Amino acid sequence: MRATVDRAGVDSESRTPHVKIRRVRKGDLARVRDVIEQSFGDYFERQLGTRPRQVFNGAQYVHHRWLMEPWGCFVAEENDGKIVGAVIAVMWGTVGLVGPVGVLTNYQNQDIGTHLVRAAHEFFDENKATLSGMVTYPNSPKHLAFYHKFGYKPKGLVAVTSRALERGHAAMPAARSARPALAVRRFSALEEAKKKVMMLKFRKITNGIYRGLDLGKEVEIVDGLALGDTLLLENGRDLVGFAVCHTPGVSEAPAGALYVKFLAVDGAWRRPECFDALVSGLEHFAQESGLHRAILPVYTGYFAAYQGLLERGYQVDFTMVRMKRGKQEDYEDPADFVLDDWR
Ligand SMILES: CC(C)(COP(=O)(O)OP(=O)(O)OC[C@H]1O[C@@H](n2cnc3c(N)ncnc32)[C@H](O)[C@@H]1OP(=O)(O)O)[C@@H](O)C(=O)NCCC(=O)NCCS
Repeated sequence: MRATVDRAGVDSESRTPHVKIRRVRKGDLARVRDVIEQSFGDYFERQLGTRPRQVFNGAQYVHHRWLMEPWGCFVAEENDGKIVGAVIAVMWGTVGLVGPVGVLTNYQNQDIGTHLVRAAHEFFDENKATLSGMVTYPNSPKHLAFYHKFGYKPKGLVAVTSRALERGHAAMPAARSARPALAVRRFSALEEAKKKVMMLKFRKITNGIYRGLDLGKEVEIVDGLALGDTLLLENGRDLVGFAVCHTPGVSEAPAGALYVKFLAVDGAWRRPECFDALVSGLEHFAQESGLHRAILPVYTGYFAAYQGLLERGYQVDFTMVRMKRGKQEDYEDPADFVLDDWR
């Protein structure tokens, strides 16, 4: 279908004349959101035949991501100042993640997406990323080819799962007699000094999953902007696991649902009942927040986590494919209980 794409602004010398890539500034944020939502809206419309009323069902990906990682956000801008494309990237410690990236439909297939992803890669290089990744649409030849040219390989499926929460459904783990020692607390309730100590414990867990993996920024932005909360599963003084959760408003949670950005159970505690206790805790948190659905994306390479969610009644809403480039591409241990959404 490439022949049908408008080539607005193209002249005979270059595929992307008059377009420069620069970092996002505060004043760009509303337009960046617009460009990303328009480009995805058009893509969904082409796939589904109808345009979704709200492209991401109320989830937002621009403002808080830019506050969290301003150096990782770039726009493609025409000479007259019109923003026609954007990419948002983030470093999770040693792991660089791309996405979302979008180029206005009339400007696609003119190298603009390539320049945006290259800018994100330079940012990763500056920050010494040892692995980079993203998720994309496995049924789209264009998306697979687009990322392939940067060296990304398609890996396993990512299942975006969810479950409706009935009233009174989730028991708090502490109340369960089978595991009286496990308890769930909220990061937001800790004193500032204790938060710092807790951040070190998070890093110890994530470092055990992939060397240098660090979710500190995600925890801080959720705490700082009250986008939701980070739940702590503890056994006495031991941190057994944690989950970074968004609630709807200006976060990545769609309307009416709790969304889990990241969850990990410490390798030393990787038992189904610990994962179950943490998922119970976040379902309880969802219900206390007046939400009736929980959305838990899972990489199927973390097979124990995937299976655990299905056994708990989670259903797969849609799937995407994980794309990776770097030396230790296949680091995920299928026995680990990890949920890490790279969108
Ligand atoms: C994905 C996206 C960002 C790419 O941006 P873009 O500006 O069109 O990308 P580029 O022009 O730099 O590169 C597109 C490449 O795909 C290739 N391509 C286009 N259609 C193709 C097809 N049907 N099959 C295979 N390759 C195809 C082009 O030839 C080009 O490769 P080349 O540089 O080797 O010629 C853009 O299509 C977009 O915004 N899509 C909607 C939102 C979205 O899906 N975002 C990404 C989600 S993971």
